[in-house]
Amino acid sequence: MESKNAGVGRRSFTNWFLGLSLGGLMTSIVYPVFRFMSPPDVPEAATNEVEAGPVNDPELVEKGFKIVRFGAEPVLLVQLGQKEYRAFAATCTHLDCIVEYQKGDQRIWCNCHNGEYDLNGRNVAGPPPKPLEVFAVNLVNGGSGQPETIVISRS
Ligand code: FES
Repeated sequence: MESKNAGVGRRSFTNWFLGLSLGGLMTSIVYPVFRFMSPPDVPEAATNEVEAGPVNDPELVEKGFKIVRFGAEPVLLVQLGQKEYRAFAATCTHLDCIVEYQKGDQRIWCNCHNGEYDLNGRNVAGPPPKPLEVFAVNLVNGGSGQPETIVISRS
């Protein structure tokens, strides 16, 4: 009779131990996945001004525009003349595609659904419901013999 009780005791201890091990294993797998899926809410530092490079940037000179990182958001920098620049949020107000400047047509264009903005950022054709956010552009002295630097800031 006692050996039967001892067998039941060992079996229940083994079941308890296996359950605990399985629970530990599942926790060690599920918890990292859960943490990855829900990253902590860390607010991004607010960006108010970025340097967009020198005025003689080959990409800007050749294409007439370039996309610049403004903190986490992309900004479209457009060169209209020798020292005339404009900057807009590069995210289309329709469905968040990245817009581009078309030098030949003098327009800002979104190739996702043929949305169009004028050179003041106003939505003029296609589905975009709102204008693009406008940023201020200034030139700062690049120092001894260096070209001026383009600085984009919130207007
Ligand atoms: S996302 Fe730009 S027009 Fe639709």
